[in-house]
Amino acid sequence: MAQAKPAKAKIKKTAVKSYHNYIGGEWVKSSSGETFDNVNPANTDDIVGRFPKSTAEDVNAAVAAAKDAATKWRQTPAPKRAELLFTLAEILRDNKDRYTEEMTREMGKVLKEAGGDVQEAIDCTYYTAGEGRRLHGFTTPAEMKNKFAMCVRQPVGICGLITPFNFPMAIPSWKLIPALVCGNTVVIKSGEDVPLSSLNLVKACEQAGIPKGVVNLVNGFAEPGAALVGHDDVRLISFTGSTDTGRIIAEQCARDNKIVSLEMGGKNAIIVMDDADVDNAVEGSLWGAFGTSGQRCTASSRLVVHKKIYKKFVEKLVEKVKGLRVGNGLDPKTEVGPVIHEDAMQRIQGYIHIGKNIDKAKLAVGGNRLTKGDLAKGWFLEPTVFTDVKPGMRIEQEEIFGPVTSVIPFSTLDEAIEIVNGVKYGLSSAIYTQDVNKAFYAMQELYTGICYVNSATIGAEVHLPFGGTKATGNGHREAGTQVLDIFSEWKSLYVDYSGKLQKAQIDAVEI
Ligand code: UN1
Repeated sequence: MAQAKPAKAKIKKTAVKSYHNYIGGEWVKSSSGETFDNVNPANTDDIVGRFPKSTAEDVNAAVAAAKDAATKWRQTPAPKRAELLFTLAEILRDNKDRYTEEMTREMGKVLKEAGGDVQEAIDCTYYTAGEGRRLHGFTTPAEMKNKFAMCVRQPVGICGLITPFNFPMAIPSWKLIPALVCGNTVVIKSGEDVPLSSLNLVKACEQAGIPKGVVNLVNGFAEPGAALVGHDDVRLISFTGSTDTGRIIAEQCARDNKIVSLEMGGKNAIIVMDDADVDNAVEGSLWGAFGTSGQRCTASSRLVVHKKIYKKFVEKLVEKVKGLRVGNGLDPKTEVGPVIHEDAMQRIQGYIHIGKNIDKAKLAVGGNRLTKGDLAKGWFLEPTVFTDVKPGMRIEQEEIFGPVTSVIPFSTLDEAIEIVNGVKYGLSSAIYTQDVNKAFYAMQELYTGICYVNSATIGAEVHLPFGGTKATGNGHREAGTQVLDIFSEWKSLYVDYSGKLQKAQIDAVEI
């Protein structure tokens, strides 16, 4: 495995910077006074910053601030709310390079991908701010004479946004921007491994002139997350993260009658047909499986390959994987960065063990932790490919969330579709083929929220809905205009201008 040199020179030996929560427009410490360190996963000697370890008390203060700001923000005309969001987009664009580098330092993904993450937040902000001048409702004829009927969107209230580590700025933006354009106020609980990117986003909101209390940020672990979910004044929880945590949140929200939007696991697959451009399919598989070190909900963790081209595909894939440069993402030559922390390393290595010893799949390349030289200071793992994987094996069924993919042979398209659909998740799928009939048939039959033809399972764009079927979510979609259905509620309005009592369903209308 080629190993890029970690970019030592970039890490300055200065005192660790302390950051704060943002509550009611003030940057404040946690009520506990406790902090935690944000550690660079590529070099654990590098402490990116010190963040407040927030408590339920901090969440109470943040929710109170969001409540105080709610009426004024809701009553601000949506096009005016959107103007502030356009300013926010410009601030994000102007600071893209700094955000990118800071994201790589705290999360590990290579600079190019961190730049893509920031870009996704910029795109989301420009696109969704445009909704300030749309937020379309509709009119429809009333069933009585001299009566008008229409439907408008209204904000839901205070929204709790709980975000993961893998897209440190893009995913918070997918939640924050639509919540704001719809007229809600928010409390963000940042991902504990990547608090700086959320903080950068929130600081940009402050600079854009978004009024105090509209956006609040608390940092920390499970305690503030649980306090937010359990808070009586919070009307909506939007969560991206693990299926286990999502289920707990959904149960609590069901008891409290809160709106809940969940985006959770995936076990995405690429089908490679015998007529596919194999080199293109190999490139796509590499990108889909090992981009973000496989730590994407959309990662191509299964490659379902036609038997006729299986050998050729595997040979080319393995050769390419051997050439991937693993290292510190700050080095522009690095292609695969570290995984997020020691627990993730243990979990992924656990799956590699299962693949080898329980599933008894063939380990074609990778499988080891990398500890040579400076790599010993981070959580680096060889990009790993299992071949001759059979449907039903644990590595084929369970989300690994790391740089590990499985190659599964098949004979017919229907068999391949059954394999792709034969998992509990349904986020993203893909097919490589030159045959338009097969492509359309697959698009119809693959039961996922996203499906690609002739590209990998990753790379969703912000103006299309994002989300999945089955255990991936609870039926909601983020991004696109569909996200507005999470962050607003419909209000049906009837105006009777007949000057008399008209009883719907009862009075006969003269024709
Ligand atoms: C995720 O994997 O959690 O489609 C989000 C993609 C990115 C977003 C991924 N635009 O891969």
